Amino acid sequence: MARESESGFPVEPVYGPDALTGRDPAERLGEPGAYPFTRGVYPTMYTTRPWTMRQYAGFGTATESNARYRQLIDHGTTGLSVAFDLPTQMGYDSDADLAHGEVGKVGVAIDSIEDMRVLFDGIPLDRVSTSMTINAPAALLLLLYQLVAEEQGVTGDRLTGTIQNDVLKEYIARGTYIFPPGPSLRLVADTFKYCTAELPKWNTISISGYHMAEAGASPAQEIAFTLADGIAYVRTAVAAGMDIDDFAPRLSFFFVSRTTLLEEVAKFRAARRIWARVMREEFGARDPKSQMLRFHTQTAGVQLTAQQPEINLVRVAVQGLAAVLGGTQSLHTNAFDEAIALPTDKSARLALRTQQVLAYETDVTATVDPFAGSYAVEALTDAVEAAALDLMRRVADRGGAVAAIEQGFQKEEIERHAYRIAQEQDAGERVVVGVNRFRLEEEEPYQPLRVDPAIENRQRERLAALRAGRDGEAVRTALAALKKAAESEPGTANVLYPMKEALAARATLGEVCDALREVWGVYVPADAF
Ligand code: 3HC
Repeated sequence: MARESESGFPVEPVYGPDALTGRDPAERLGEPGAYPFTRGVYPTMYTTRPWTMRQYAGFGTATESNARYRQLIDHGTTGLSVAFDLPTQMGYDSDADLAHGEVGKVGVAIDSIEDMRVLFDGIPLDRVSTSMTINAPAALLLLLYQLVAEEQGVTGDRLTGTIQNDVLKEYIARGTYIFPPGPSLRLVADTFKYCTAELPKWNTISISGYHMAEAGASPAQEIAFTLADGIAYVRTAVAAGMDIDDFAPRLSFFFVSRTTLLEEVAKFRAARRIWARVMREEFGARDPKSQMLRFHTQTAGVQLTAQQPEINLVRVAVQGLAAVLGGTQSLHTNAFDEAIALPTDKSARLALRTQQVLAYETDVTATVDPFAGSYAVEALTDAVEAAALDLMRRVADRGGAVAAIEQGFQKEEIERHAYRIAQEQDAGERVVVGVNRFRLEEEEPYQPLRVDPAIENRQRERLAALRAGRDGEAVRTALAALKKAAESEPGTANVLYPMKEALAARATLGEVCDALREVWGVYVPADAF
């Protein structure tokens, strides 16, 4: 009796040699580091360099987060990953009415260049790659990062890192959007152009499936809707006059890894093969770097349980292994207590140690794409690929990702799958150890980390001092120039140049976003469900 996969196709109890027939091996597999990159984006993968251990972190003010980053670097993390609080992500200053109660809560509060300077105090920006999970105001945080790097004497050509900058998925899941799709895509195109000219090693976008997966998307939905978003961004940049091989090498992706390890490995391999084909055949990309789907993975937060939280250590280890066997370039392993609260120093360290065990105690770095030629994984890769291509066709039939978003298509499909998962869990058909089977009568007490409520007041005081100490006229002039550029037709004035001037004059993140709100308005979603 075949079990159903997460993506909805049957998983055979036994696969055999016919799983490897019927397709040209060069079109299905190819060599590691070569088209269609099914086996991985680099010829040698982890045999010469492990994936980047990049733990997502940030809370409180820049001071608290700077301390956590230094701890993670001391414990061996090899890349930084900044979590911003909701006001920052939504383009509001910490002293805005809408910010009350959220300052420093789910990430670090960044209002100005002064906060950014503190955030990276003592961290040499030419020696670390930094990811920033920021979308609608991504350009601002990138410019603040560049301004702080310039103060350290680090020029833009030496800066490495990534901004998530993927607003389309915010309209589908997660919700930290500001402007309507049109101006948002203009800002993305301006950012691509700016980075090509000023920050050539910077990854300009992290096209994300993670949050759709956390909202309930299946593996096939996750990669289909993410790659469809990627196609929308590529079309936007090409329409803005950019050559595909000028910007495509710096696109990157971000996926989840679930405990269903075999289907996850198949998912990652299928995603690389689809993207390589789309870039070469639909967009005529000639540079292999344009065809490579490089991605970051975060283990599935939604699969963590508050009950018997130590079980999450096992889940995260399996999820991390899935990402590695699937060829991830960068990995975040969740802390076991994240279903309860922000990670403590100890649980954050344990999450990183999980990656270090995978990288240095197991043999999964000894050879590239060990599942290649596996009857089961090749069959699953083909099946996930087929399911994803069908969904991509359905998005294309609706006019592409943006039109489908405005019709609510992706959201509907994901909610339908999320509902099925919930029903199966409630019925006990989908086992969640410790929750609907193998429960404890009495849960053991757990002391989570609490964010100090005084943080909001400290951040408000910093803002008041910044505004009192800066040249207000220079800020007003710079913001006026930014608004003028924002009023121009897409593809004419690049808004990042006047934006950088305003931020350097100590305009705050909220003031810059308010200036753009005045020109572009804000996105109002179609009727939600
Ligand atoms: N052979 C040859 N070269 C190799 C190699 C190998 N085996 N391994 C690595 N390299 C080279 C690469 O080519 C690269 O050089 P280049 O930049 O000049 O090409 C360099 O070494 C670094 O390697 P990678 O680029 O593979 O690794 P990075 O870690 O630097 O980048 C990435 C990975 C996926 C491309 C990048 O976009 C990235 O770091 N993304 C991270 C995104 C992230 O952390 N997101 C967190 C989101 S948290 C969130 O949203 C969830 C929350 O909301 C809950």
